[in-house]
Amino acid sequence: MATIIAPSILSADFAHLADEVKKVTDAGAEYVHIDVMDGTFVPEITIGAGVVKSLRKFSRAVFDVHLMVEHPETQIESFAKAGADIITFHVEASKHSHRVIQQIKSAGCKAGVAINPATSLAAIEEILSDVDMVLIMTVNPGYGGQKFISSMLDKISRLKYIIDDEELPCYIEVDGGINAETSKLARDAGANILVAGSAIYGAENISDAIKNIRG
Ligand code: DX5
Ligand code: ZN
Repeated sequence: MATIIAPSILSADFAHLADEVKKVTDAGAEYVHIDVMDGTFVPEITIGAGVVKSLRKFSRAVFDVHLMVEHPETQIESFAKAGADIITFHVEASKHSHRVIQQIKSAGCKAGVAINPATSLAAIEEILSDVDMVLIMTVNPGYGGQKFISSMLDKISRLKYIIDDEELPCYIEVDGGINAETSKLARDAGANILVAGSAIYGAENISDAIKNIRG
């Protein structure tokens, strides 16, 4: 699987979001990672479905929506209608993960499940064959610009082993603290979708930053 780059617009200039999206897709990014925070699951509040709907008019990129919200089941329809391609929810925020996955698929989107650094792979074992993607958080969710938690590399490797062993068509995305150095570690461990916010939007040359992260 070729590596996919998903710049996180959390680190973009929110006053010029359409241009900020164009900047990274023109520079070669395949996905646009959209961090949705509800002020409850994580402290901050960020982007709602209305913003995704507006951005959709300006971009054909894959919209990779990362829901950091309680009760994700209440948000699926509106983000799908707004133009999300992939919707990822946190297993920690859902009592009925299997149902949420079915809901995302019925809405016509690819389904991802995210796990926090403190959450074991065992929490998603029973739904692994149902999801298109697992998002391994390599920081605690809530903020951009945090340091990569390197003990997550072992979790990525173990997940990669299970996916290969069971021949599952499931991508591994990593999110948090990804830069040119940590991206190599994550790729070597088995990650194939790399989210990066500050390392891309904070770079002087966005194309170079994307190339370096892709490796
Ligand atoms: C954190 C978000 C990330 C964030 C990553 O909760 O899910 O997507 O934007 O930012 P960096 O790449 O700066 O760690
Ligand atoms: Zn994210």
